[in-house]
Amino acid sequence: MRRRHFETLAPRCPVCRNEQPLRLERVLREQGEHVLEGWLACANPSCLREFPVLDGAPLLAPDLRAHVRGQTLAFLGREGLDELSESWLGDCLGPQSEFDTLRQHLSQYAWDHWGEFDPLERERDPAPGSVARVLDELWRRVDALPDGPLLEIGCSVGRASFALAERTGRLTLGVDLHQGKLRLAQRILRESRVRYAQRRVGVVYERREFAVPTPAAERADFWSVDAAQAPFADGQFAGILALNVLDSTHAPLELLRSCARLLAPGGVLALACPYDWSLSAAPLEHWFGGHSQRGPNAGASEPVLRAMLGWAADPALAQLKPECEVDSLEWNVRLHERSVMRYRLHGVIARRR
Ligand SMILES: C[S@@+](CC[C@H](N)C(=O)[O-])C[C@H]1O[C@@H](n2cnc3c(N)ncnc32)[C@H](O)[C@@H]1O
Repeated sequence: MRRRHFETLAPRCPVCRNEQPLRLERVLREQGEHVLEGWLACANPSCLREFPVLDGAPLLAPDLRAHVRGQTLAFLGREGLDELSESWLGDCLGPQSEFDTLRQHLSQYAWDHWGEFDPLERERDPAPGSVARVLDELWRRVDALPDGPLLEIGCSVGRASFALAERTGRLTLGVDLHQGKLRLAQRILRESRVRYAQRRVGVVYERREFAVPTPAAERADFWSVDAAQAPFADGQFAGILALNVLDSTHAPLELLRSCARLLAPGGVLALACPYDWSLSAAPLEHWFGGHSQRGPNAGASEPVLRAMLGWAADPALAQLKPECEVDSLEWNVRLHERSVMRYRLHGVIARRR
């Protein structure tokens, strides 16, 4: 956690939502401007909750115990093992173990976000880097922005937040809920190096380690925050980016409302989504389309999102005004050496009135 980001963004207690910002109560480990370990505390005497900083990322979860219990391995798993010991553990724990799921997620996102800088990378069709290409396509349609910092929701291992900070010169915060991805993003922030296990086949992985350019690193930071309940003041952000999150979050409607609340007047929300709905993220009732084929939209998702942005019956959503759409953004997720999934994203830009 960069001190500059903490001071500028002045996060509030996600439990009592008191207007007083959290205090940096104790620093246990730091490196330059980064607090690596320590904790933040709520100043409200009837709350006094504490929020740890771990792996360089503050954990601003309202239900901290559930958040940590749900990803024990990402918090406590050991690092620094030899690649062969790791493969041995992978064989023993097997497919679909927590270890395997964590490695697969990191493999998928580290490949797309950073693989283009990997000297060993051979995949060219499609080439890694789709998240950066989607950001370029979307953000070049964004014109004037009010003053203020930027927020990326669902930043994963960080590429788009770095790119946004570089492109705009603004202070940028990437938030996610996945501790393994945040830990990698934080390491890249401090070391400009990526290390991850790339999946070849089954539970066979190959260690990849390489340097990456991070020219705007001093303007970026990565925190653990549920964007649907983001502990920030209203109107704090000039722009919000949310790539491939709407269909992988537990509360898509709350996420949109939260974006409307967090944006300053004139601020921009840029989002893109493949509408790859699944129960592992949210119950069917929360999906935007993807069900109710007999209804007026025949189950399509795009008209539901359009209707939500600016929906007069909802005071938060009524504040958002759609500006433009783009329907042909290609986003790729590499599963293993013989499989890359290609998605076609629906991108939307909306402005806060
Ligand atoms: C499908 S991934 C996309 C990651 C990245 N934006 C990309 O396009 O490569 C969705 C990410 O959103 C994160 N996420 C889901 N719900 C979230 C929420 N409520 N707040 C913050 N992050 C969330 C997930 O942990 C995951 O890393």
